[in-house]
Amino acid sequence: MKTAKAQRLNHFQTGIFASLDDKKNELVKMGRTIYNLSIGTPDFKPHPSVMKAVSEACLDAENFKYALTEIDELTETLIHYYKDRFSVEICKEEITAVHGSQEGIGHIGLALCNKGDVVLLPDPGYPIFEVGAYFGEAEMHFYPLLEKNNYLPCLKELDEDVLKRTKFIILSYPSNPVGAVATRQMYMEVIELAKKYGFIIINDNAYSDIIFDGNESFSFLSIPGAKDVGIEFYSLSKSFNITGARISFAIGNKEVIDAFKLLRSQYDFGVFKPVQYGAIAAMKLDRSVVEEQRLQYQKRRDALCGNLRKIGWNVPDSKGTMFVWAPLPKGYNNSVEFCNLLMEKTGVICTPGAAFGKNGEGYVRFALVKDADELEKIVDVIASSGIIK
Ligand SMILES: Cc1ncc(COP(=O)(O)O)c(C=O)c1O
Repeated sequence: MKTAKAQRLNHFQTGIFASLDDKKNELVKMGRTIYNLSIGTPDFKPHPSVMKAVSEACLDAENFKYALTEIDELTETLIHYYKDRFSVEICKEEITAVHGSQEGIGHIGLALCNKGDVVLLPDPGYPIFEVGAYFGEAEMHFYPLLEKNNYLPCLKELDEDVLKRTKFIILSYPSNPVGAVATRQMYMEVIELAKKYGFIIINDNAYSDIIFDGNESFSFLSIPGAKDVGIEFYSLSKSFNITGARISFAIGNKEVIDAFKLLRSQYDFGVFKPVQYGAIAAMKLDRSVVEEQRLQYQKRRDALCGNLRKIGWNVPDSKGTMFVWAPLPKGYNNSVEFCNLLMEKTGVICTPGAAFGKNGEGYVRFALVKDADELEKIVDVIASSGIIK
């Protein structure tokens, strides 16, 4: 047999995670206690009404047929939801459901890019951003997200030649992994630039319901002019704890959505109908459910960041997302080595910043997937290991 793996897959490195996984398995075999703060899967449960809607829909044989497209009730619910939640008017033609933003963003480059187009991506950034651009055979340019700029992009520093060749930019706030939030002003500036150079904005809005300290949660589509130049991926996964159900939406500029739908119609037969019913139930929940959860995340953030600071690890508070972006403690400068050492000495697993791009080196990411009391205990374990010098 010829080599099975296509050359294009050589782009994807699994090295960092494989070495951390080996170490984890070794510790588990030794019977050590593991505190896994590396994976962004919420430990909160979906609301009972969401589970009920999915399970009831599963009892109707009709719902096992190809969905092909969104059921009308789902589209209508999303339209009302965007109006109530974000004061944004959208219509049916501006929406397509995806099997999670991950899948959507991974495919968008195929619908939009020609070989050699430039795609602008955040560094550090969520890894799927690069995948969409790579499959679209685009030339990737990484814009740095730096602490000194509050992790906001400085696009004016980019070469005019790059901007002229840019097909799309990905923005994502509140942002994974850096836990930063954006200002409306930043979006207004990028929209102005997109209009000047004719590029598209893809906004990834995965954490609109996990935002702290009174920072404003908004949709990119609420910024004047946004729909002229861009779309937003809106994920239900984290707001409603349905990461495994795989449903999110691409919403916005009709020309972009049309191209995306044309691509999707080649390989996709729509989201399983019971999942669509679950999404409807989720978007109809009282906002207090999501608000209660947001406060829990904030409490967790306070427990982790506040207590790490008390033991001498100077970790700033995240402003949003379910993540904490921690600069390496004094005396360490390699995030992979630090993660390995932390795991060995304490059983705590976090993700090396280097996994998110060049500018992620020097940091590690913790996921807030344990309750506040447990996080406090985890900090005690870190303190007694002597790893913080
Ligand atoms: C920034 C960001 N975008 C998108 C996703 C994927 O979301 P979904 O579950 O809708 O695929 C994640 C998941 O962790 C994420 O952190």
